[in-house]
Amino acid sequence: MGENYFLEKRAKEVVEGLGLKRKPKFGFTLGSGWGNVVHMLKNATVLSYSSIGLPACGVAGHAGNFVFGELHGVEVVVQQGRYHLYEGKQFSQILLPVAIMKECGIDALVLTNAAGGINQSYAVGDLMFLSDHINLTGRNPLIGVEPTKDHPVFVDMTQIYDREMAENLCDAAEDMGISHHRGVYMQVLGPSFETPAEIRAFRSMGADAVGMSTVMEAIYARYLGLRVAGISCITNMAAGIKDQKLRHEDVLKESNARGKKFSEFLDRFVCMDK
Ligand code: HPA
Repeated sequence: MGENYFLEKRAKEVVEGLGLKRKPKFGFTLGSGWGNVVHMLKNATVLSYSSIGLPACGVAGHAGNFVFGELHGVEVVVQQGRYHLYEGKQFSQILLPVAIMKECGIDALVLTNAAGGINQSYAVGDLMFLSDHINLTGRNPLIGVEPTKDHPVFVDMTQIYDREMAENLCDAAEDMGISHHRGVYMQVLGPSFETPAEIRAFRSMGADAVGMSTVMEAIYARYLGLRVAGISCITNMAAGIKDQKLRHEDVLKESNARGKKFSEFLDRFVCMDK
């Protein structure tokens, strides 16, 4: 029996225990520096990860809560902080938040992250909406999962990121004057940053941005049948593109500086996609 069987069973137990009165439509997974979005929620209720037996988030900028509330009159659930493979976390921990949001009733998941820009036409502060990804981790969250009639494991990945959601994201960014792109995200394992030679190789492979999250959750969310969107905040240009060293503090500084604007942007997106 694959570990995801237990994941979905655990998600059911957690959600039954919550006694939710309203079903959220969207789930948002907030990556590094995106945590401010929760301040936009109306009628918010907070559920800490620790209260449902999930470990604390080890990475600065990842609070470790679910927050339920309304964005633009639409019920949403926000995952404020995620777990990463580079923390040595298991898929049962990385993916449980996604399983829980699915069990709460969402039909669409928006995965946000901070990423290094590989495409030289990108600039720090731009948003990239994922058109596709390259999984360079050598890991797949569906390994060992028992296929069922409803959930086959040979999940089609030809259009993993929902086109309509991406168009709405572009429209929302356009309206707000946020510089944005559609591009290919490469997930590496981390936690060390890349070398300049790796970045040159990734560019020739077709990657526009690189980061250490998102792809595992996106694959699992598609397996669960959710619509998925991915948003990268370009917090730095990737290694070797500029003559500077990379530091996680700078990644956080750049995305935090735009937290309020990005929160308003997600609010606008929800209004368009509802
Ligand atoms: N590389 C990998 N992950 C990242 C980066 C980067 O340059 N920036 C933010 N997350």
